[in-house]
Amino acid sequence: MNFEETPKPAIRPYPWQYVAQWKLKDGNDVTIRPIRPDDEPLMVTFHESLSDRSVYLRYFCSFSLSRRVAHERLLKICFGDYDREMALVAERVEPDTGQRKIVAVGRLSKLRTRNEAEVAVLVSDQYQKLGLGYELLRRVIEVARDEKLSQVSAEMLTDNIGMQAIMRRLGFRVRAGEDMTSLIAYLDL
Ligand SMILES: CC(C)(COP(=O)(O)OP(=O)(O)OC[C@H]1O[C@@H](n2cnc3c(N)ncnc32)[C@H](O)[C@@H]1OP(=O)(O)O)[C@@H](O)C(=O)NCCC(=O)NCCS
Repeated sequence: MNFEETPKPAIRPYPWQYVAQWKLKDGNDVTIRPIRPDDEPLMVTFHESLSDRSVYLRYFCSFSLSRRVAHERLLKICFGDYDREMALVAERVEPDTGQRKIVAVGRLSKLRTRNEAEVAVLVSDQYQKLGLGYELLRRVIEVARDEKLSQVSAEMLTDNIGMQAIMRRLGFRVRAGEDMTSLIAYLDL
């Protein structure tokens, strides 16, 4: 087998190029980085920090904590292949205790049939309105551009004013979803 015929590895190496320091609007630092297999306990604490309202806005239903933190579910998320799925997390280190916590997650999920992806973001309630939702989505879109995707889209509830504000600022076009309760935002890359 010559070099050109060698199959690509199923799991890509950790994408260090997406690791960066970033400042919240309140001046505190976070690290934005691709999720890692050892993030499972931090993801459990992240989900524990979410209000019912934030969960509803993200998943469009009341998705129980026990199901959100089920080991099999988090395993899939934390052991992403960095190819079809890319999750960027924002990690904060508590200055007093040195404790690390995940305070937001942005995701890119490639569609199987088209050269497109869906994006989504979820920010811990205590860290909302500090610029993280916008910044994570902006970076997830950069990943989509690097992956040479042609379009990204996101679905949100019609009363999700914050997400709509972010999408419009990022240049997405917004149109009504299939039912009256949701909107779809599109960005051509
Ligand atoms: C929606 C969400 C992602 C926004 O993230 P965030 O970090 O709080 O938002 P940001 O601080 O980045 O705000 C970006 C802009 O949106 C505006 N905005 C954010 N939340 C808003 C709200 N509830 N109402 C009005 N404007 C809002 C901000 O004022 C800001 O505008 P500015 O830069 O001109 O001041 C976050 O609230 C969240 O995780 N919600 C629950 C889950 C969810 O809705 N996910 C999206 C569905 S995929």
